[in-house]
Amino acid sequence: MSASGLPAVILVGGEGTRLRPLTARTPKPMLPLVDRPLLAYTFEHLARHGVDRAVLSCGYLPTQIEAHFGERHGRLALSYRVEPTPLGTGGGIRFGAEGISSTFVALNGDVLHGADLGAMLAFHRERGAAGTILLAPVDDPSRYGLVRCAEDGRVRAFVEKPRAEEIDTNLINAGLYVLEPKVLELVEPGGPVSIERDVFPRLVEAGSLYGFRLDGYWRDIGTPESYLEAHRDALERNFASELGDSLGSDYTLIAADARVAEGARLVPPVYVGAGALIEAGARVGSLAVIGAGARIGAAAEIDSAVVAAGARVGARTKVVGSIVGEQAEVGAGCQIRGLSVVGPGATVGERNMLDHGIRIAAGETISSDALTFS
Ligand code: GDD
Ligand code: MG
Repeated sequence: MSASGLPAVILVGGEGTRLRPLTARTPKPMLPLVDRPLLAYTFEHLARHGVDRAVLSCGYLPTQIEAHFGERHGRLALSYRVEPTPLGTGGGIRFGAEGISSTFVALNGDVLHGADLGAMLAFHRERGAAGTILLAPVDDPSRYGLVRCAEDGRVRAFVEKPRAEEIDTNLINAGLYVLEPKVLELVEPGGPVSIERDVFPRLVEAGSLYGFRLDGYWRDIGTPESYLEAHRDALERNFASELGDSLGSDYTLIAADARVAEGARLVPPVYVGAGALIEAGARVGSLAVIGAGARIGAAAEIDSAVVAAGARVGARTKVVGSIVGEQAEVGAGCQIRGLSVVGPGATVGERNMLDHGIRIAAGETISSDALTFS
């Protein structure tokens, strides 16, 4: 069974606060994951399972999404609805689903997975559920919605952001639901409504909420750490994607017009985008993403790191386990490590050391020799 004919409502209205400064100018679903917006992977997944129409429920920086994707992505027709004020996850689903009178899929726009939507829909129908939540096992449920289920999959409790003493299962809400339109009647119009806190507990009381367990890959992208891990997963082909296919069995993708100087080393898995320049003696990889048009200076080292489109990294600078945002400039002789983030358009002068998750604001300037760690 496929999910063909099912419409989808995608929540993309959040501010992505934990990913600042990367989300200062770009809504989270538009952040690049190996040079293409995160949302492109979601669209690809939905289309692969037969979904042919998606409504984007937008809030924060809404115009960029429509300006980039327009009316369709492959075989998926796209439409956009912009909330006048943030309506919350429940309000956002109701707002996006206006006019939908059949079973539909609702999903968070910041998760990556390969869920079998057809199997999930079959499960939902067999049980006559009002709602079915995709479930993923995680090590630490505290950042998610914990879902307690009975043997047959019926949800016994839904606890958003559980406290330590409430954690008695590793299964959490993976951020994708199959819903009947009648569920929307539980969303009060007007103010913000959370589907997790306000709606799911009521469906639990009614006994009409079920959980469907995901086999395989799942990741939500909410922090610089998970954003970097998503890059690793894309480069290692830990989930299915067109990008993964084009990386091929050598886990390397170098755009045809990228320039790699003689004597520069590329260590797979590695990606170098269109028009990028890698100068002599640089070492890029493993697990490095160099965005389109970015420049990596002579003898620089980029390891387990992302240098986004249009950014520049100076000679001998090391970027390890960190992120340099779009159009940012990092001078020569710097060290950027320990999950540090240089915001888009920021300038970091020569010989600075960034460590311990420091975040340089978008467009900020740090003068040469300003930051050190002993
Ligand atoms: N349209 C709209 N309006 N979208 C919103 C709003 C809003 O007011 N608030 C949040 N969103 C979108 C975000 O853009 C994101 O795609 C999704 O709703 C979830 O919001 P997050 O802020 O990312 O929530 P979370 O990650 O803390 O928790 C959610 O996701 C977890 C899985 O990743 C919950 O659904 C948890 O239960 C779940 O485990
Ligand atoms: Mg999230």
